[in-house]
Amino acid sequence: MTTAPAKLALSRVSHRFGETVALAPTDLTIAPGEFVSVVGPSGCGKSTMFNIIAGVLTPTGGRVSVDGRDVTGRAGEVGYMLQKDLLLPWRTVLENIVLGATLKGGASRKEREEGVALARRYGLGDFVNHYPAALSGGMRQRVALMRTLAMHRDVLLLDEPFGALDSQTRFAMQQWLLSVWERERRTIVFVTHDIDESVYLSDRVVVMSPRPGRIRRILEVPIPRPRPVSCLTTPEFAAIKREILDIIYEEAPQIGAGTPETGA
Ligand SMILES: Nc1ncnc2c1ncn2[C@@H]1O[C@H](COP(=O)(O)OP(=O)(O)OP(=O)(O)O)[C@@H](O)[C@H]1O
Ligand SMILES: [Mg+2]
Repeated sequence: MTTAPAKLALSRVSHRFGETVALAPTDLTIAPGEFVSVVGPSGCGKSTMFNIIAGVLTPTGGRVSVDGRDVTGRAGEVGYMLQKDLLLPWRTVLENIVLGATLKGGASRKEREEGVALARRYGLGDFVNHYPAALSGGMRQRVALMRTLAMHRDVLLLDEPFGALDSQTRFAMQQWLLSVWERERRTIVFVTHDIDESVYLSDRVVVMSPRPGRIRRILEVPIPRPRPVSCLTTPEFAAIKREILDIIYEEAPQIGAGTPETGA
């Protein structure tokens, strides 16, 4: 759609763990400010792809670039919220938010002030000196996201950030994330198992398939923004969801093999 230079680009990125091909050669280009979700069955290589983009895993093939610079195998170029992102229970909310700076040698006063401002802006101003144990699940997720935001990277990788939340909290968090995204104009790549979530949030949805993990299709979500709750029940929304499910189930292992009919 856009002629802007890529914010993030994967070219022929692949990875194997011993004999296991976790990711077949993969190309993906993401524009500045885009919101892209990645869906696909467990084990199809989503987290592997994120670890490679984040530079914590060096791929066995291909290269990753951010703003046209080769960052393959280089950590710290993008903000990354891991699939199992734990807050440190012995650190306060503020200390958790500025953890990135702390690990780099100590959070400055300015960085701490920014951390407080971030917490205030996103509704946790009263909790900066609390410990994670005093927070609800949704609040903890927000702190983990703020910690990712506080790394000041244009690209954010979020690996199933809302996976553990109940559906109402999850929906509130989705709204919150969209407001953060609109305000901060970052580029977001988001892994989820929830197809509704992927469609609701994204400009494009990347559908992956396993063995070896690869991108099967990339779908545009042409639903205008802002997206009201009511868009979740429109035929347009259902059609995209259906298309994604068809791609995923087309390749699903055939339990009770030989089922002639296609579809859900
Ligand atoms: N450190 C590792 N050593 C060996 N194999 C690994 C390692 N990490 C991942 N794998 C394998 O690579 C494949 C892809 O794993 P990955 O974690 O990327 O999947 P995923 O799509 O994130 O799955 P999920 O949806 O369950 O989080 C799997 O077959 C997995 O067993
Ligand atoms: Mg994963």
